[in-house]
Amino acid sequence: MTFSADPEKIRTPKAMARREFLIGAAAVSGLASKYARALPNSSAILATLRPAVDTVSSSEILPSLVTPNIDFFIRNHFTAPVISEENWNLEISGAVTTPLKLSYSDLLLSSSIRRPLTLECAGNPAGGHGASTAVWSGVPLTELLKQAGLQPGATTVIFHGADSGVAEGLPPDTHYARAIPIEKATDPTTLLAYEMNGAPLPPEHGFPLRALVAGWYGMDSVKWLTRVEVSQGPFQGYFQQQSYVATTSKGDRRPITGMRVNSRFIRPLENEGIHGKSYRIEGVAWAGDRKISKVELRFASDGAWQPAVLPTSQVAMVWTSWSYEWNVPRAGQYTIEVRATDDQGNAQPLVRDPDRLDEYELNTAHRVRVTVQI
Ligand code: MTE
Repeated sequence: MTFSADPEKIRTPKAMARREFLIGAAAVSGLASKYARALPNSSAILATLRPAVDTVSSSEILPSLVTPNIDFFIRNHFTAPVISEENWNLEISGAVTTPLKLSYSDLLLSSSIRRPLTLECAGNPAGGHGASTAVWSGVPLTELLKQAGLQPGATTVIFHGADSGVAEGLPPDTHYARAIPIEKATDPTTLLAYEMNGAPLPPEHGFPLRALVAGWYGMDSVKWLTRVEVSQGPFQGYFQQQSYVATTSKGDRRPITGMRVNSRFIRPLENEGIHGKSYRIEGVAWAGDRKISKVELRFASDGAWQPAVLPTSQVAMVWTSWSYEWNVPRAGQYTIEVRATDDQGNAQPLVRDPDRLDEYELNTAHRVRVTVQI
């Protein structure tokens, strides 16, 4: 098995490939082949999801706010393991008073919750498709930790995945594992999920069980879970120490955690041809565990920001739709930009912080170019 040395490569799910890749076949196949060449294992990781290039109206491809499983983005560091539930157990071990070993049916029989959550990859590029929303069912982790009993001094919960591989720089026998602080692990929103949009987790999304760390970037939502380890100290694993760290040219290091405010267009698509004087622009915006307070658009780099319309209510930790009825002043080419602001006043930046050396939290304003004929 192989490991991608690239910081983040996000795979195009099948239906999205069908839908969006077909739309701009020439331009998009250029992108796809570029990424396929860059990757050591194109079956594990096929392409970075960039906005598609359009030759037909995007009104044909409007998705719902809940992403169908087949369209949900996929981000794997290794080849996805195939696990049968009969031979699988979840261990809850480490600094607990009663270690647990749970079967798949033990989990199905535990009291469960069902909730929508938006997941975004920490390396999702501006306007990229590395963010999706599903309705998940599973067991709040805190309930299982209560059953196991935390020992005094527990600070950290480590999620161990079943996937592993070899690559340059990667210590032998490294499997995918990530840790979160005990406060986040015992927050009732942190789930161990076995269902996605009403179906058992698809194999590529972590069957039989995955973590879902609500409001945080996707790297902590560990798939193919085998063990939940409670620890009394920080986790020294490779993916904790070497990846998902914000670094600056001044030498600062900070772990990546909660999602930054972000937004993207659903329509129009990059290079879309628009006919007529009025056009409804639509998109989504999200901000981890915060709500979106405003979404704004502008139609020229020196133009004024115009407010988009938001729904009256938003679902916690789920992206929201927004829209803008554009009365096009004249035919021509436009670059349209969108930026969102969260309820703590954080707005998407217009340019990437030049001090950043890493490639995470890429939440600059999304831009699309369109040509309007009237
Ligand atoms: N869990 C395991 N075991 N292995 C992985 O490679 N990738 C993580 C996370 N969980 C990963 C994992 C990353 S970086 C992201 S963004 C999300 O899974 C993506 O989840 P998805 O593929 O279901 O969209």
